[in-house]
Amino acid sequence: MWASLIRVTLLASCTYTSYALSSNPLHLMGRQGVNLWRLDQIHAARAHSSALAAQDSIQSPFFTAEKHHLSEEFTAYTFEQPLDHFGNETGDTFGQRYWINTRHYKSGTNAPVIVLDGGETSGEDRLPFLDTGIVEILAKAIGGVGVVLEHRYYGDSIPVKNFTTDSLRFLNNDQSAEDSANFMRNVKFDGIDENLTAPNTPWIYYGGSYAGARAAHMKILYPDIVYGAIASSGVTHAQIMYWEYMDIIRRAADPTCSKHIQNTVKTVDALLAIPQLKKTVKGHFGLADLEHDEDFASVLETPLGYWQAKVWDPAVGSTRFDEFCEALDQSPIAHSMTLPGGVSLDFATLNYAKWIRENVVSRCPEDMAVDECFGTFDDTKFQDTSLDQTWRAWQFQVCTQWGYFITAPPDNSYPSILSKHITLEYLAMICPQAFPKGKHFKVPSMPNVTAINSLGDFTIAADRLAIIDGEVDPWRPATPHSDYAPDRPDTVLQPFKIIPNAVHHYDEYGLRDITMEPPEILKTHLEMIDFVTEWLKDWRNPSCTVAE
Ligand SMILES: *[C@@H]1O[C@H](CO)[C@@H](O)[C@H](O)[C@H]1NC(C)=O
Ligand SMILES: *[C@@H]1O[C@H](CO)[C@@H](O)[C@H](O)[C@H]1NC(C)=O
Ligand SMILES: *[C@@H]1O[C@H](CO)[C@@H](O)[C@H](O)[C@H]1NC(C)=O
Ligand SMILES: *[C@@H]1O[C@H](CO)[C@@H](O)[C@H](O)[C@H]1NC(C)=O
Repeated sequence: MWASLIRVTLLASCTYTSYALSSNPLHLMGRQGVNLWRLDQIHAARAHSSALAAQDSIQSPFFTAEKHHLSEEFTAYTFEQPLDHFGNETGDTFGQRYWINTRHYKSGTNAPVIVLDGGETSGEDRLPFLDTGIVEILAKAIGGVGVVLEHRYYGDSIPVKNFTTDSLRFLNNDQSAEDSANFMRNVKFDGIDENLTAPNTPWIYYGGSYAGARAAHMKILYPDIVYGAIASSGVTHAQIMYWEYMDIIRRAADPTCSKHIQNTVKTVDALLAIPQLKKTVKGHFGLADLEHDEDFASVLETPLGYWQAKVWDPAVGSTRFDEFCEALDQSPIAHSMTLPGGVSLDFATLNYAKWIRENVVSRCPEDMAVDECFGTFDDTKFQDTSLDQTWRAWQFQVCTQWGYFITAPPDNSYPSILSKHITLEYLAMICPQAFPKGKHFKVPSMPNVTAINSLGDFTIAADRLAIIDGEVDPWRPATPHSDYAPDRPDTVLQPFKIIPNAVHHYDEYGLRDITMEPPEILKTHLEMIDFVTEWLKDWRNPSCTVAE
């Protein structure tokens, strides 16, 4: 009885501390992303079946309960979109999902519609932003209707029957931007008689991360219907080899922790170069049988992904990065260990190895070989095209238009928290593996980032386009706050704000009572309310200009 209870609890907690960071997927943990995603699925399936068998739902994870409660308050609606806006190649249409918050709406007040772009995940994951986050904060202060709009190919807004290369060919920047424009021009909100379409109603377009880039793009592409836009951690600069991601973490992390990681990486790289010691060092991490050095090096990257999962609100933020750092610094049983040949591993490297064994390797079920769990050289692992392979949509966008392969620094002598085995060649291998040439579409040999960067890149700017970024966000180097980007003033018409000590789109999260927020977040929210209020003072309905 106790044994079975404990098993169910452990499995349930595995699904809960999911490794794939499903609501924050822009960085899917590097080359191991799909492997970790698959292990999560396996654990979830096994937990589900054993929980059903035992009729013993011991843990009801907070997020699931919260999500359930929000989808009860906010009804999901659908808006019909053509699959192909530009050629009507297939004649197909699909329902694009959206949710509305009308708590603060009053008719006839010229109040705005504030739409939050769901980006590369299920729109359901964004409902907290409609309830207490940035959409609610702006709507409460300004009035108007709040909307979360799901992105094509994510959540339930799936326009195709499978995720083959051909079926994914309508997943690109132009098509999804046109979805939003079509929605803004034509939506009719349930229960609201007033016609709130653009351009006769001011629309404020908000996005965070990838969706932040989209918010900026929408303001550039459709200035006639997007009255204002806010790009939070908006990655307007697409880049194939994105080594700067880890460099932000290396410099922003606790210096002792950063040193420990750098030392481990250096030691491991040195030992992998010695054929007789390779297997010994992999063995310390529980991965003696993992064939490829690149795969081994990329398993070591797993804890670094937790930096991005930090959020100022302890109810949603992850503390795992800090826990990992604490684990590295734990007082040693032995200060070092000497390997055959006289090479020694220091205590932090031994702690790193222990953490990987206990937190990553332990997720490989006993009935699976270590290469099955963490190998990436077997093409067949990436070729299931069914719709439950949800990782394929963002991966396709990466391979076609966005890049962001998170490599070690190109200069081998530059300090690094990633092994030099994490190369572009290794990371980009997933593109031909997952997306072989179709009848109608071929994925380029390297992502073509031109379509993104030609919309403005680091210097993207417009009146009533706000740029808000986090100082220690690993995505900052891909935003207009990159060290490579020219500085610019912060004005009401073109706000340009950096939140100190913030990671990824920190302004998107909010508390029901914003005065309880940490000072930097509250300050940012008040400034956002301020500049949107100022923007709206200049609003003139275009259909009334003749009369004025
Ligand atoms: C697209 O094609 C379908 C079927 O061929 C047709 O019913 C539909 O009207 C077309 N849509 C547009 C916008 O031309
Ligand atoms: C994928 O779906 C399309 C129709 O949308 C179908 O023609 C094709 O055979 C499917 N391919 C696979 C591998 O399921
Ligand atoms: C809203 O108004 C616009 C412009 O007057 C008009 O073209 C459109 O058909 C109206 N939409 C609805 C749903 O009434
Ligand atoms: C890359 O995309 C741009 C714009 O989308 C296009 O003009 C160019 O031809 C593409 N380059 C290649 C090599 O396909």
